[in-house]
Amino acid sequence: MSLYPRTSALMQRGIDFLGTEHAILCGAMSWVSERNLVSAISNAGGFGVIACGAMTPELLDKEITATKTLTSKPFGVNLITMHPALFDLIAVCAKHKVGHVVLAGGIPPKGSVEAIKDFGAKVLVFAPTLALAKKLLRSGADALVIEGSEAGGHIGPVATSVLAQEFLPSLAEDYVVFVAGGIGRGDMIASYLEMGASGVQLGTAFACATGSIAHPDFKKAFFRANARDAVASVEVDPRLPVIPVRALKNKGTEEFTAKQVEVAKLLDEGKVDMGAAQLEIEHFWAGALRRAVIDGDVENGSLMAGQSVGMVTKEEPVAEIIARLMQESEAALVRR
Ligand SMILES: Cc1cc2nc3c(=O)[nH]c(=O)nc-3n(C[C@H](O)[C@H](O)[C@H](O)COP(=O)(O)O)c2cc1C
Repeated sequence: MSLYPRTSALMQRGIDFLGTEHAILCGAMSWVSERNLVSAISNAGGFGVIACGAMTPELLDKEITATKTLTSKPFGVNLITMHPALFDLIAVCAKHKVGHVVLAGGIPPKGSVEAIKDFGAKVLVFAPTLALAKKLLRSGADALVIEGSEAGGHIGPVATSVLAQEFLPSLAEDYVVFVAGGIGRGDMIASYLEMGASGVQLGTAFACATGSIAHPDFKKAFFRANARDAVASVEVDPRLPVIPVRALKNKGTEEFTAKQVEVAKLLDEGKVDMGAAQLEIEHFWAGALRRAVIDGDVENGSLMAGQSVGMVTKEEPVAEIIARLMQESEAALVRR
C-alpha cells in the first residue's frame, strides 16, 4: 500500500510504464545527470535519466556500466537527435538492454524509433505541436513528454499550463504523457495528474540535490536565485534561428548575445554557412554549461535553470525531495 494512495493511483499508468515506485522523472541535464544523480533518483523510487549530450558512444558505454553498479532500479538514457553518432549510441543502449530511451532536441530521424524498439526498449519523445505529437505516437513512440517554456535548458515558446490544456484532453486517455517545466511543488503535480498526465518530469528541482555532482558554486547560484533571474536567451538575428535557452542571468548570457552578433557577421561576410553557424552556437552552450556545472565558473558559464529555481533554497537528498513532492501532491488531493 502506497504512502500516497491518491497520487499513486493517478500515477499508475506512469508507474507501470517506467517500472518505478513513483511516476517522477528527473529530466536529463547535460553534465549534471550522470551516474551519481541518476542512480540516486532511481534508488529513491523516481526515474533517473542519463544525459548523453555530446558524449561519444565509448563514454556513454562507460556511464551506463557505472550507473548499473550504483542502482539495480530502472533508469533511462536521453539521446540528442542531432548527435552525429545517434545510431551508434542506440547500439550502446541495446548492448546494455536499456529499458527506456528519451529522444530529445528535435524530431526523431527516420529509423531511430524503430531501432530502439527493435531491442525492446520504450521510446519517449518530445513534440512542439499536438499534430506532431499524434503523428509520433501513432508511428511507434511509446510516450510523450510535454515541456513548457518555464523549464531550464533549451525551451519552446509555450508555457506548460497552455501545453497541458492543449495536449492532455486529446492524448491522455490513449497515451502515456508526462508533463515538464516549472514544477516545484507537489500541488502542481496533483493538478497535472488530475488533467490526465501519467506523471511528471522535473530538472531544476533536482539539479542541486545532495547526489548531484554540480560544483558547490553552481548550487549556491541556484539557492540565491529567484524565478525572475532564470531568463530565456534572446535571438539577435532572425536569419539565425537559435533555440532559446533558459538560464540564470550572468556575464555568460550577455556573451551569448555577443556570440550571436559575431556569428551573424561571419554569415554576412560569407565566411560560414547556416549549418556551421548554428553548430557554433550550440557548441557555445555545451562548453558554457560544463564550465558552470563542473568548474564552478558561475560568471562566464551557463547556469541553465528553470523558473522553479526560486523554490530551490537548499541542498537536500533526492529521497527527501521526492517524498516532499509526493506528500504535497497527496495533501492537495485530500483537500479536494
Ligand atoms: C542544467 C540543465 C541542463 C539540461 N540539459 C538537458 C539535456 O541535455 N537534454 C534534455 O533533453 N533536457 C535538458 N534539460 C531539461 C530537463 O531535462 C527537464 O526537462 C527540465 O529541467 C524540466 O523543467 P524544470 O527545469 O522546470 O523542472 C536541462 C535542464 C537543466 C536545468
